[in-house]
Amino acid sequence: MEIESNFSLKKYNTFGIEAKASQFVAVHSVTELKSVLENNKTQKKFILGGGSNMLLTKDIDALVIHIDLKGKKIIKENNDFVWVESQAGESWHEFVLWTIDQNFGGLENMSLIPGNVGTTPVQNIGAYGTEIKDTFASCEAMTIESQEMRTFTKEECRFGYRESIFKNEAKNQYVITSVVFKLTKINHKINTSYGDISSELAKNNITIPTLKDISNAVIAIRQSKLPDPKELGNSGSFFKNPILLKSDFEKIQQQFPEIKYFDISKTEVKVPAGWLIEKAGFKGKRFGDAGIHKNQALVLVNYGNATGQEILNVSKDIQETIFKKFGIHIEGEVNVI
Ligand code: EPU
Repeated sequence: MEIESNFSLKKYNTFGIEAKASQFVAVHSVTELKSVLENNKTQKKFILGGGSNMLLTKDIDALVIHIDLKGKKIIKENNDFVWVESQAGESWHEFVLWTIDQNFGGLENMSLIPGNVGTTPVQNIGAYGTEIKDTFASCEAMTIESQEMRTFTKEECRFGYRESIFKNEAKNQYVITSVVFKLTKINHKINTSYGDISSELAKNNITIPTLKDISNAVIAIRQSKLPDPKELGNSGSFFKNPILLKSDFEKIQQQFPEIKYFDISKTEVKVPAGWLIEKAGFKGKRFGDAGIHKNQALVLVNYGNATGQEILNVSKDIQETIFKKFGIHIEGEVNVI
């Protein structure tokens, strides 16, 4: 375990932004993590997982600790369910495929989401009608200050739409080291409710989908809409879909009758930010090396050498334009550093 200086983070963030860490170390076990934290008590620290949900707008003047803990295993099972544990540094998509190969159900709708397992609880990742809170059982985390381990139950994580305790009260206090998911062995809850999935299955004449069929459908949809970070730097959805009071929404709807929305409760609706951004004319636009993806306006992209600040400026321009046009504030989803 070696601490490096003036270390380029370009390969460690899916936006592919060039930024330097004043110090960088990769840890491969809980013991290594503990010793790095103990031996660098007074140093400013920055915890880095898969780098798939952050925008680096400047160099990081801190000890960047890259969580590279590997391993996955079954820790418990009964006739109906299996509890699988993955270490934080496993690639999320590879972990999902591993569960599907063993016919364990619950994660298939979240195939191909970039990033590592350890950061999935932080923003309660989700796609195509499923969020990790639906299968999350618990996670282990190390307290940065005292290096003590603690378990967080699902209730303690206080999951919400792209939200958890780790983005709020517990922010910057813990390093998640492993996560346990409770998955089905039989009677899988196949979820094809998200429109695109059922049409993708129908296209392939699949009427009784397996977990693998769902995963393949999700992969096909994602590949058609979302850029692969290895080819085009991005961080998935840059904004959250705004949630509006129905009374406010109806006023906007009078002016824009074609506006897309989803009912989420008796009093609230969720509006796709991608639709708002497209309607405001940004879809596919490019400003230098920063741009808005041509197939999904919610995704900002780096064509090669954009700086984080340039991408941030584009995001601010989008936010201001949306506010002027619709009176809606769209909130960022990505962590701006
Ligand atoms: N839409 C447009 N124009 C666009 C994009 C979307 O009009 O450029 C409209 C679509 O026509 C559709 C609606 O918006 O009616 C929803 O689009 P989509 O199914 O692509 O989903 P989304 O709401 O834009 C969310 C998540 C994605 C996730 C998909 C599928 C958020 C912030 N984003 O996007 O998550 O993959 O649903 O479940 O909730 C991510 O978080 O990084 C991410 C990619």
